Amino acid sequence: MYKVRVLRTTAQWHHRLAVQQRFIKQLTSAELRVQFVDYFEKQGHTRVKSASLIPHNDKSLLFTNAGMVPFKEYFMKPDTAPFKTATSIQKCMRAGGKHNDLDNVGYTPRHHTFFEMLGNFSFGGYSKKEAIQLAWRFLLEELELPLARLRVTVLENDEEGYQLWKAMGLPDDKIVRCGMEDNFWSMGDGEGPCGPCTEIFWDTQDKSLDDPWLEIWNLVFMENYRTADGQITKLPSPCIDTGMGLERVASVLQGKANNFQVDQFEHLISGIRSVLGKRNVVVPSSEDPNAHEKIIADHFRAMCFLISDGVIPSNIGRGYVLRRIIRRALRSAQQLGINEPFLTDLYPHLLDGYKDGMYPELSSRAASICNVIANEEATFLKTLNRGLLLLNNVFEQPDLQQSKVIPPQVAFQLYDTYGFPFDLTLIIARERGWTVDMQAVEALQEKQKALGRESWKADDLADKSRLAEWRNQAILPQFTGYDHALLHQESQIVAAETIHKGKKTELVVAIDPCPFYGLGGGQVPDTGFITLANGSQWKVTDVFQPYEGGIALKLASPKGPKEMQKQLEEDQEFLQIGNLVRTEIDVNKRQGAEVHHTATHLLNAGLRAILKTDIVQAGSTVEPKKLRFDFTYGKPLSNDQLYKVEEWINEAALSGGETNVQHMKLNEAVDSGAIAAFSEKYGDVVRVVEVPGVTKELCGGTHVDNIRKLYPFKILNETSVAAGTRRIEAVAGLSCMEWYRQSFMPVPDLLKMLRANNTNDAVTKLDKLMQQTRETQKRLEHMTEKLATAGEKIVHPVEGIYNNIPVRVHLIDPDLDAMFMQKRANVLKESQPEYAHLLVNKNTIVVALNTSQVQEHTANSILRHILKHIKGGGGGQKEFAQGRLAEAILDEETIKTRLLPALKAQ
Ligand code: SER
Repeated sequence: MYKVRVLRTTAQWHHRLAVQQRFIKQLTSAELRVQFVDYFEKQGHTRVKSASLIPHNDKSLLFTNAGMVPFKEYFMKPDTAPFKTATSIQKCMRAGGKHNDLDNVGYTPRHHTFFEMLGNFSFGGYSKKEAIQLAWRFLLEELELPLARLRVTVLENDEEGYQLWKAMGLPDDKIVRCGMEDNFWSMGDGEGPCGPCTEIFWDTQDKSLDDPWLEIWNLVFMENYRTADGQITKLPSPCIDTGMGLERVASVLQGKANNFQVDQFEHLISGIRSVLGKRNVVVPSSEDPNAHEKIIADHFRAMCFLISDGVIPSNIGRGYVLRRIIRRALRSAQQLGINEPFLTDLYPHLLDGYKDGMYPELSSRAASICNVIANEEATFLKTLNRGLLLLNNVFEQPDLQQSKVIPPQVAFQLYDTYGFPFDLTLIIARERGWTVDMQAVEALQEKQKALGRESWKADDLADKSRLAEWRNQAILPQFTGYDHALLHQESQIVAAETIHKGKKTELVVAIDPCPFYGLGGGQVPDTGFITLANGSQWKVTDVFQPYEGGIALKLASPKGPKEMQKQLEEDQEFLQIGNLVRTEIDVNKRQGAEVHHTATHLLNAGLRAILKTDIVQAGSTVEPKKLRFDFTYGKPLSNDQLYKVEEWINEAALSGGETNVQHMKLNEAVDSGAIAAFSEKYGDVVRVVEVPGVTKELCGGTHVDNIRKLYPFKILNETSVAAGTRRIEAVAGLSCMEWYRQSFMPVPDLLKMLRANNTNDAVTKLDKLMQQTRETQKRLEHMTEKLATAGEKIVHPVEGIYNNIPVRVHLIDPDLDAMFMQKRANVLKESQPEYAHLLVNKNTIVVALNTSQVQEHTANSILRHILKHIKGGGGGQKEFAQGRLAEAILDEETIKTRLLPALKAQ
């Protein structure tokens, strides 16, 4: 009789899996990428390069989170797609918004923040049937996966989908019907294309798992559109969007139970182990070393890809997600016993996993990526331990041990003061069996909004939605403002829109050609006037780009907002599309902006030259009268460094150099050494602004024709804007001259007041003066204190006699000075005129006499008499004399034994 062998132990299962694996085609991740894209290309799909992780065409998303994101527009308007079908391998990030896998990473075998999605797409080209056939053939014929280990799910009422799978030969028990939550896909919770989907699963046959079925491919039948108010409507033509996680399929082909064991991660995990090994890390037994290892591997890869696409750690939006990822990785490392910077040591190991050159930005931007990571790491490590201490205190508080809830104030303080992202606090709490009342924390955070730490909000320029219509009408004005000769010219109105916002009315127009600059890149938009054919003038208050290729001018009545409506009515006819206008740009403002834009390029180059490191631009603002440039650097620049940067720029400007502009292919530009801001979206052909030998940068802005115009250049200040990010503010050219003029105008007066010969002398004098003031201030405080308490300390005078004149000797507190003695002497002589008064304070002696009552002697003669018997010097007038004694008189006893006998003596 045939006997079925029962496999009882996990080891037996794993053995069986290993045997089966021998019959599955073994592919590396790199081979899988090639095979996938080649297959779909052969089937007529256009190969499209991965878009950036920053979704440049979609403000509703934080990150590109699926292969379809760059094609979103094409699903809605397939006619505008340059290809009917496409295939791509898209960099994806799921760490925010609807698709957020951050909390699962490390604790499941499959979740990642960053991953690659293999996809094929149809924009009205083919539909369900072909999509299913293409996918099925790829799995069975190209990858040669055994049919027996596959099954699919379909949406429960999707009869067509069900039948299509049946037609592919799948038996009923391999087609599972599921509900909307599993088989209806949408990109976010808000507006966007969506539709039913069918998912393909692989049977891992791993009995150690609760669910051995692994989802490997999702085929979305993009048929619907969800409007902002939640209505599901039909798309103009059905489209296809499929997505397959590279790591998952690689785990199937490589027979790995865990994504972190596939070749792509192997290098990184072994890198982490060698870094840990070098640091003699002993993993605490209560910790799961593998989970932390996985978290570090996943997060490290994610942070590198994010930074390579231009995300910089910050407290808002994408930057905050990046910061959370870096800090979570560091916390995991801490759990493994690493308390020192280590992340950048992993970088070469990451590169080892991408040797196929799939992501050249990882190598070309290596120095910048490591620079950003090292800065963030150093900053956080400083506060991590202090924050943990605070948290441990909480865990030890008996009154909290009952509820095991971390007080919201503590969670907020950890966030606000120690830079702990909330989820980090949640993880630590979870590990200890504690919780955090996030609602209460959020309420607190709400109160602190002033700190500017709100979470991501989509750009809400209200006008833009009204202007979306312009894009549909292909309103694409030609920008002619690079050429100064064309700033004042005749143009035509090609679109006009009046927007009412409450009581306010705004007029927005597009003119073609358009010399007004409003293309961003940090440069302020132009302002000026347009004159209509009837001679009426409108002020151009703002210029912006409502969509790629669009330029919109915001107009206001030069007579003020109250006249707006009236002028609109009067000019209505001349504001219609097709009318001619004359443009007049504020040339001074524009030229100022150009000086500072080119100066920003020189600053970027100068900083690299002097700091000898690859800084990353983190933001820039170019204004007519100054510039602001933010960049990554771990510490403040020294005065010497700042001076050298200034000198570098001034020397370059003095030597002069023409700015030339070329259009080149993006990769050629970058290969030729042009600086590119990673976060910008560049087309295949880019505009390169170069001053040979000085600077070469990708830029859409307007610039001076010769860098001579930047002289002189002056850095006004250098400050910190965020951890690891510095800010320089500077002025150039005429604005710099103006700055010097303003700064030096008060100098002659200043020198006169200080009686100084030059500014250096003035500094010395001022310093001395300030020191004196400080001392005087201190003294004054002290004396006031003394006088306030004087009442309690009055010492009775010692009575004496000098030639029949009664004498009173007053011992003055040694802390009081000569000025006090003089004042006191005056008071005494007026209040007790019958006496001769002697005031003594250490070595000082003052004699005061009221000559209206005592005529026989003078203060001076009494002092002289004393000085005959006690060594010293001094002199004075009739009523007042002052002297210095060689010996100090500090107490009553000395008065009695020295002074009184001296008075009596002959
Ligand atoms: N957009 C779908 C997903 O992300 C298929 O690519 O799963």
